[in-house]
Amino acid sequence: MSTQFQYVQSYAAMVRAYLAAFPEDEAVARSVGGAFEHFGVLEHSLLLQYGLQPDSRVIDVGCGAGRLTKQLVGYPKLQYIGLDVVPELLDYNRRKAARADFRLEQVAGNTMPAPDGWATLVTYFSVFTHLLHEESYAYLEQTYRVLAPGGRVVFSFFEFAVEDQWSVFEGNVDWVRKRSYLGHINVFMHAGDIEIWARRLGFRVVAIRRGDEPSIQVTPETATEAVPAGLHVLGQSYCVLEKPRPPAAEPAAVPPG
Ligand SMILES: C[S@@+](CC[C@H](N)C(=O)[O-])C[C@H]1O[C@@H](n2cnc3c(N)ncnc32)[C@H](O)[C@@H]1O
Repeated sequence: MSTQFQYVQSYAAMVRAYLAAFPEDEAVARSVGGAFEHFGVLEHSLLLQYGLQPDSRVIDVGCGAGRLTKQLVGYPKLQYIGLDVVPELLDYNRRKAARADFRLEQVAGNTMPAPDGWATLVTYFSVFTHLLHEESYAYLEQTYRVLAPGGRVVFSFFEFAVEDQWSVFEGNVDWVRKRSYLGHINVFMHAGDIEIWARRLGFRVVAIRRGDEPSIQVTPETATEAVPAGLHVLGQSYCVLEKPRPPAAEPAAVPPG
Protein backbone atom coordinates (compact mmCIF):
# COMPACT_ATOMS: atom_id res chain seq x y z
CA MET A 1 0.00 0.00 0.00
CA SER A 2 3.03 2.29 0.02
CA THR A 3 2.07 3.42 -3.50
CA GLN A 4 -0.52 5.70 -1.92
CA PHE A 5 2.16 7.69 -0.16
CA GLN A 6 4.45 7.53 -3.16
CA TYR A 7 1.61 8.90 -5.25
CA VAL A 8 0.82 11.71 -2.85
CA GLN A 9 4.49 12.67 -2.62
CA SER A 10 5.11 12.38 -6.35
CA TYR A 11 2.03 14.47 -7.15
CA ALA A 12 3.10 17.18 -4.72
CA ALA A 13 6.65 17.03 -6.11
CA MET A 14 5.33 17.34 -9.65
CA VAL A 15 3.26 20.43 -8.70
CA ARG A 16 6.33 22.02 -7.06
CA ALA A 17 8.47 21.30 -10.13
CA TYR A 18 5.89 22.94 -12.41
CA LEU A 19 5.63 25.95 -10.08
CA ALA A 20 9.40 26.39 -10.25
CA ALA A 21 9.44 26.14 -14.05
CA PHE A 22 6.34 28.02 -15.22
CA PRO A 23 4.20 31.05 -14.32
CA GLU A 24 1.70 30.05 -11.60
CA ASP A 25 -1.44 29.82 -13.80
CA GLU A 26 0.30 27.60 -16.31
CA ALA A 27 1.94 25.48 -13.59
CA VAL A 28 -1.34 24.65 -11.85
CA ALA A 29 -3.17 24.05 -15.13
CA ARG A 30 -0.48 21.52 -16.08
CA SER A 31 -0.70 19.96 -12.62
CA VAL A 32 -4.39 19.10 -12.97
CA GLY A 33 -4.28 18.03 -16.60
CA GLY A 34 -4.48 21.36 -18.44
CA ALA A 35 -7.48 22.91 -20.23
CA PHE A 36 -8.71 24.60 -17.05
CA GLU A 37 -11.85 26.20 -18.48
CA HIS A 38 -12.66 23.42 -20.96
CA PHE A 39 -12.82 20.65 -18.34
CA GLY A 40 -14.47 22.91 -15.79
CA VAL A 41 -17.36 23.55 -18.18
CA LEU A 42 -17.64 19.86 -19.09
CA GLU A 43 -17.61 18.76 -15.44
CA HIS A 44 -20.26 21.37 -14.58
CA SER A 45 -22.48 20.37 -17.53
CA LEU A 46 -22.17 16.68 -16.66
CA LEU A 47 -23.22 17.33 -13.07
CA LEU A 48 -26.27 19.29 -14.25
CA GLN A 49 -27.27 16.29 -16.37
CA TYR A 50 -27.10 14.05 -13.33
CA GLY A 51 -28.86 16.11 -10.71
CA LEU A 52 -26.84 19.20 -9.66
CA GLN A 53 -29.30 21.66 -8.08
CA PRO A 54 -28.77 25.33 -7.15
CA ASP A 55 -28.88 24.31 -3.46
CA SER A 56 -26.86 21.07 -3.74
CA ARG A 57 -24.40 20.09 -1.01
CA VAL A 58 -21.31 19.08 -2.99
CA ILE A 59 -18.11 17.33 -1.90
CA ASP A 60 -15.49 17.61 -4.65
CA VAL A 61 -12.76 15.10 -3.78
CA GLY A 62 -9.41 15.87 -5.44
CA CYS A 63 -10.68 19.39 -6.24
CA GLY A 64 -7.16 20.47 -7.17
CA ALA A 65 -6.77 24.02 -8.44
CA GLY A 66 -10.53 24.49 -8.83
CA ARG A 67 -11.58 23.64 -12.37
CA LEU A 68 -14.99 22.60 -11.03
CA THR A 69 -14.98 24.90 -7.98
CA LYS A 70 -14.87 27.95 -10.23
CA GLN A 71 -17.93 26.78 -12.15
CA LEU A 72 -20.01 26.42 -8.97
CA VAL A 73 -19.48 29.85 -7.39
CA GLY A 74 -22.46 31.24 -9.30
CA TYR A 75 -24.97 29.26 -7.21
CA PRO A 76 -25.48 31.37 -4.06
CA LYS A 77 -27.27 28.59 -2.13
CA LEU A 78 -24.89 25.79 -3.06
CA GLN A 79 -22.71 24.40 -0.24
CA TYR A 80 -19.29 23.12 -1.21
CA ILE A 81 -16.46 21.15 0.39
CA GLY A 82 -13.33 20.69 -1.75
CA LEU A 83 -10.75 18.12 -0.58
CA ASP A 84 -7.23 17.53 -1.82
CA VAL A 85 -3.85 16.21 -0.73
CA VAL A 86 -1.67 18.95 -2.29
CA PRO A 87 -1.65 22.21 -0.28
CA GLU A 88 -0.33 24.35 -3.16
CA LEU A 89 -3.34 23.43 -5.31
CA LEU A 90 -5.77 24.16 -2.49
CA ASP A 91 -4.08 27.51 -1.91
CA TYR A 92 -4.44 28.43 -5.60
CA ASN A 93 -8.07 27.26 -5.58
CA ARG A 94 -8.79 29.43 -2.51
CA ARG A 95 -7.28 32.54 -4.13
CA LYS A 96 -8.49 32.11 -7.71
CA ALA A 97 -11.58 29.95 -7.87
CA ALA A 98 -13.48 29.41 -4.62
CA ARG A 99 -15.98 31.57 -2.75
CA ALA A 100 -15.34 32.70 0.83
CA ASP A 101 -18.00 30.34 2.22
CA PHE A 102 -16.65 27.30 0.32
CA ARG A 103 -14.70 24.91 2.58
CA LEU A 104 -11.37 23.77 1.11
CA GLU A 105 -9.49 21.21 3.17
CA GLN A 106 -6.33 19.18 2.94
CA VAL A 107 -6.94 15.49 3.62
CA ALA A 108 -4.48 12.67 4.12
CA GLY A 109 -6.44 10.58 1.60
CA ASN A 110 -9.55 8.39 1.89
CA THR A 111 -11.08 10.43 4.70
CA MET A 112 -14.11 12.63 4.27
CA PRO A 113 -14.67 15.33 6.90
CA ALA A 114 -18.46 15.54 6.63
CA PRO A 115 -21.29 14.17 8.77
CA ASP A 116 -23.30 11.10 7.74
CA GLY A 117 -25.91 11.90 5.10
CA TRP A 118 -24.73 15.51 4.56
CA ALA A 119 -23.95 15.51 0.81
CA THR A 120 -26.30 15.34 -2.15
CA LEU A 121 -23.47 15.06 -4.70
CA VAL A 122 -19.90 13.77 -4.42
CA THR A 123 -17.45 14.09 -7.31
CA TYR A 124 -14.08 12.55 -8.18
CA PHE A 125 -12.95 13.99 -11.50
CA SER A 126 -9.67 12.49 -12.64
CA VAL A 127 -8.93 11.12 -9.16
CA PHE A 128 -9.62 7.35 -9.26
CA THR A 129 -7.45 7.50 -12.38
CA HIS A 130 -4.49 7.92 -10.00
CA LEU A 131 -5.38 5.81 -6.96
CA LEU A 132 -5.02 2.13 -6.15
CA HIS A 133 -8.33 0.31 -6.54
CA GLU A 134 -8.33 -0.29 -2.79
CA GLU A 135 -8.08 3.46 -2.13
CA SER A 136 -10.90 4.26 -4.57
CA TYR A 137 -13.05 1.56 -2.97
CA ALA A 138 -12.35 2.94 0.51
CA TYR A 139 -13.31 6.41 -0.75
CA LEU A 140 -16.58 5.01 -2.13
CA GLU A 141 -17.35 3.45 1.26
CA GLN A 142 -16.90 6.88 2.83
CA THR A 143 -18.97 8.40 0.04
CA TYR A 144 -21.88 6.09 0.85
CA ARG A 145 -21.70 7.25 4.45
CA VAL A 146 -21.71 11.00 3.67
CA LEU A 147 -24.40 10.85 0.97
CA ALA A 148 -28.03 11.52 1.75
CA PRO A 149 -30.43 8.84 0.46
CA GLY A 150 -31.03 9.62 -3.22
CA GLY A 151 -27.66 11.41 -3.39
CA ARG A 152 -25.20 10.61 -6.16
CA VAL A 153 -21.49 10.15 -6.77
CA VAL A 154 -19.89 10.93 -10.11
CA PHE A 155 -16.39 9.70 -10.92
CA SER A 156 -14.28 9.53 -14.06
CA PHE A 157 -11.99 6.63 -14.96
CA PHE A 158 -9.70 5.21 -17.62
CA GLU A 159 -10.74 2.00 -19.37
CA PHE A 160 -9.03 -0.23 -21.92
CA ALA A 161 -12.20 -0.36 -24.03
CA VAL A 162 -11.62 3.24 -25.13
CA GLU A 163 -8.95 3.42 -27.82
CA ASP A 164 -7.98 7.04 -27.02
CA GLN A 165 -7.05 6.07 -23.46
CA TRP A 166 -4.42 3.57 -24.60
CA SER A 167 -1.81 6.31 -25.01
CA VAL A 168 -2.00 6.83 -21.22
CA PHE A 169 -1.42 3.14 -20.58
CA GLU A 170 1.40 3.02 -23.13
CA GLY A 171 3.04 5.91 -21.26
CA ASN A 172 2.91 3.78 -18.08
CA VAL A 173 4.42 0.83 -19.94
CA ASP A 174 7.21 3.07 -21.18
CA TRP A 175 8.08 4.08 -17.61
CA VAL A 176 8.32 0.40 -16.73
CA ARG A 177 10.52 -0.36 -19.76
CA LYS A 178 12.89 2.51 -18.98
CA ARG A 179 12.76 1.94 -15.23
CA SER A 180 12.23 5.68 -14.87
CA TYR A 181 9.13 6.65 -12.97
CA LEU A 182 8.82 10.40 -13.23
CA GLY A 183 5.12 11.12 -13.07
CA HIS A 184 2.23 9.69 -11.12
CA ILE A 185 0.46 6.38 -11.59
CA ASN A 186 -2.46 6.05 -14.00
CA VAL A 187 -4.93 3.36 -13.04
CA PHE A 188 -7.47 1.65 -15.32
CA MET A 189 -10.86 0.28 -14.29
CA HIS A 190 -13.32 -1.98 -16.06
CA ALA A 191 -16.98 -0.99 -16.40
CA GLY A 192 -18.08 -4.55 -15.46
CA ASP A 193 -16.00 -4.42 -12.27
CA ILE A 194 -17.53 -1.08 -11.31
CA GLU A 195 -20.96 -2.73 -11.41
CA ILE A 196 -19.68 -5.38 -8.99
CA TRP A 197 -18.25 -2.68 -6.70
CA ALA A 198 -21.56 -0.81 -6.78
CA ARG A 199 -23.50 -3.92 -5.82
CA ARG A 200 -21.17 -4.71 -2.90
CA LEU A 201 -21.24 -1.11 -1.66
CA GLY A 202 -25.03 -0.78 -1.92
CA PHE A 203 -25.18 1.77 -4.75
CA ARG A 204 -27.56 1.76 -7.72
CA VAL A 205 -25.82 2.27 -11.08
CA VAL A 206 -27.35 5.31 -12.81
CA ALA A 207 -24.95 5.52 -15.76
CA ILE A 208 -21.57 4.30 -17.02
CA ARG A 209 -20.49 6.10 -20.18
CA ARG A 210 -17.42 5.73 -22.38
CA GLY A 211 -15.04 8.67 -22.55
CA ASP A 212 -15.20 8.81 -26.35
CA GLU A 213 -19.00 9.15 -26.48
CA PRO A 214 -20.26 12.68 -27.08
CA SER A 215 -22.58 12.44 -24.09
CA ILE A 216 -22.07 15.74 -22.29
CA GLN A 217 -24.60 18.39 -23.20
CA VAL A 218 -23.10 21.86 -22.85
CA THR A 219 -26.10 24.18 -22.74
CA PRO A 220 -26.20 27.90 -23.57
CA GLU A 221 -26.19 28.45 -19.76
CA THR A 222 -22.96 26.49 -19.16
CA ALA A 223 -21.21 27.34 -22.46
CA THR A 224 -18.41 29.88 -22.68
CA GLU A 225 -16.65 31.45 -25.65
CA ALA A 226 -14.04 28.68 -25.49
CA VAL A 227 -16.51 25.82 -24.92
CA PRO A 228 -19.57 26.21 -27.17
CA ALA A 229 -22.99 24.70 -26.54
CA GLY A 230 -23.49 21.21 -28.00
CA LEU A 231 -22.54 17.62 -27.29
CA HIS A 232 -18.97 17.02 -26.06
CA VAL A 233 -16.78 14.07 -25.04
CA LEU A 234 -15.10 14.09 -21.61
CA GLY A 235 -12.11 12.01 -22.73
CA GLN A 236 -12.18 9.92 -19.56
CA SER A 237 -15.08 7.51 -19.09
CA TYR A 238 -17.44 8.27 -16.22
CA CYS A 239 -19.82 6.59 -13.83
CA VAL A 240 -22.78 7.87 -11.81
CA LEU A 241 -23.95 5.89 -8.75
CA GLU A 242 -26.86 6.61 -6.42
CA LYS A 243 -27.40 5.79 -2.76
CA PRO A 244 -30.90 4.30 -2.80
CA ARG A 245 -33.69 5.80 -0.72
CA PRO A 246 -35.10 3.43 1.90
CA PRO A 247 -38.29 1.73 0.70
CA ALA A 248 -41.48 3.55 1.73
CA ALA A 249 -43.02 2.02 4.87
CA GLU A 250 -46.07 -0.21 4.26
CA PRO A 251 -49.25 1.56 5.38
CA ALA A 252 -50.39 0.14 8.74
CA ALA A 253 -53.02 -2.54 8.32
CA VAL A 254 -56.49 -1.34 9.27
CA PRO A 255 -57.72 -3.52 12.13
CA PRO A 256 -60.89 -5.39 11.24
CA GLY A 257 -63.84 -3.36 12.51
C1 LIG B 1 -5.78 15.28 -12.31
S1 LIG B 1 -6.08 16.23 -10.90
C2 LIG B 1 -7.83 16.62 -11.07
C3 LIG B 1 -8.25 17.80 -10.25
C4 LIG B 1 -9.74 18.19 -10.32
N1 LIG B 1 -10.61 17.11 -9.90
C5 LIG B 1 -10.09 18.68 -11.70
O1 LIG B 1 -10.85 18.01 -12.43
O2 LIG B 1 -9.57 19.73 -12.07
C6 LIG B 1 -6.10 15.00 -9.59
C7 LIG B 1 -6.25 15.63 -8.22
O3 LIG B 1 -6.43 14.60 -7.24
C8 LIG B 1 -5.68 14.97 -6.09
N2 LIG B 1 -5.46 13.74 -5.28
C9 LIG B 1 -4.57 12.76 -5.43
N3 LIG B 1 -4.71 11.80 -4.51
C10 LIG B 1 -5.75 12.16 -3.74
C11 LIG B 1 -6.40 11.58 -2.59
N4 LIG B 1 -6.01 10.41 -2.07
N5 LIG B 1 -7.44 12.26 -2.06
C12 LIG B 1 -7.84 13.44 -2.57
N6 LIG B 1 -7.27 14.03 -3.64
C13 LIG B 1 -6.23 13.41 -4.22
C14 LIG B 1 -4.43 15.61 -6.67
O4 LIG B 1 -3.73 16.39 -5.75
C15 LIG B 1 -5.05 16.44 -7.80
O5 LIG B 1 -5.47 17.70 -7.37
